Amino acid sequence: MSDAKIIDGKAFAAGLRERVGAKVAKITDAHGLKPNLTVILVGEDPASQVYVRNKGTQTVEAGMESVTHRLDADTPEATLLSMIKTLNDDKACNGILVQLPLPSHIDESKVLAAIDPDKDVDGFHILNVGRLWTGQSALVPCTPYGCLLMLKDHFGSLSGKRALVLGRSNIVGKPMAALLLNESCTVSIAHSRTEDLEARCREADILVAAVGRPEMVKGDWIKPGAVVIDVGINRVDAPEKGEGKKKLVGDVDFAQASSVASAITPVPGGVGPMTIACLLRNTLVAACRQNGIDAPDI
Ligand code: GUN
Repeated sequence: MSDAKIIDGKAFAAGLRERVGAKVAKITDAHGLKPNLTVILVGEDPASQVYVRNKGTQTVEAGMESVTHRLDADTPEATLLSMIKTLNDDKACNGILVQLPLPSHIDESKVLAAIDPDKDVDGFHILNVGRLWTGQSALVPCTPYGCLLMLKDHFGSLSGKRALVLGRSNIVGKPMAALLLNESCTVSIAHSRTEDLEARCREADILVAAVGRPEMVKGDWIKPGAVVIDVGINRVDAPEKGEGKKKLVGDVDFAQASSVASAITPVPGGVGPMTIACLLRNTLVAACRQNGIDAPDI
């Protein structure tokens, strides 16, 4: 197998943001509705601060309203829950996102359960999880939805494909499996306890790696011609770039995998940019549903 096609998530995400922006402009014009995404950040986690800043910038660029509440790391859980209740009741707010991880004194599941499911643009509320697994219309977690869009763009129909999701997190692995199942894939979920993991991976036409272990998936784990979606974003030492320098790598050994797979997402520039683009899409969909406007099929 020669070198794999590189699936350009950066360009794909830019296209999706543009389509969202065009639709936002239309509904603002026709209905006077400017979708609002409200993000709550508790504490000063450096990575979360970068994500939240990028979310705000891209929300505004898509023509939507962005509000960010920054709360101290020692904010009581009750204060956060009370803020969520206020936002649930506020008609001007269409999407609520509480940035994770939360400080350890706050119960994450309690917080996620407090968000109005129709404003849950992360798709983490149990009602949206249930809707997704029962094939009903749901707000769907952004990262796996972004992966699905890239796969559908590549294949057209996914029906009948053998898909293996490596990783079983609530944010990526499980919803990814549900989305692929809804597309009529034959889906397996593998994880750290899976027996014969490499052999299971080698059976897959579609391999989605979301384990958070740098370059764990080697070239000989991949079925020749498979399509590989690498969700991992791992910061590792890069002595070749100079002392103390770091670089980002995925969960897949890209150099090895790209000579076996038929298509692969790079890190960076693959799945990463799709997450915020899908968040903007979810905010637009939520705003449309809350206002009785046909939600766009994007
Ligand atoms: N932290 C890392 N990824 C995410 C995400 O997709 N949503 C939220 N709310 N927090 C995150």
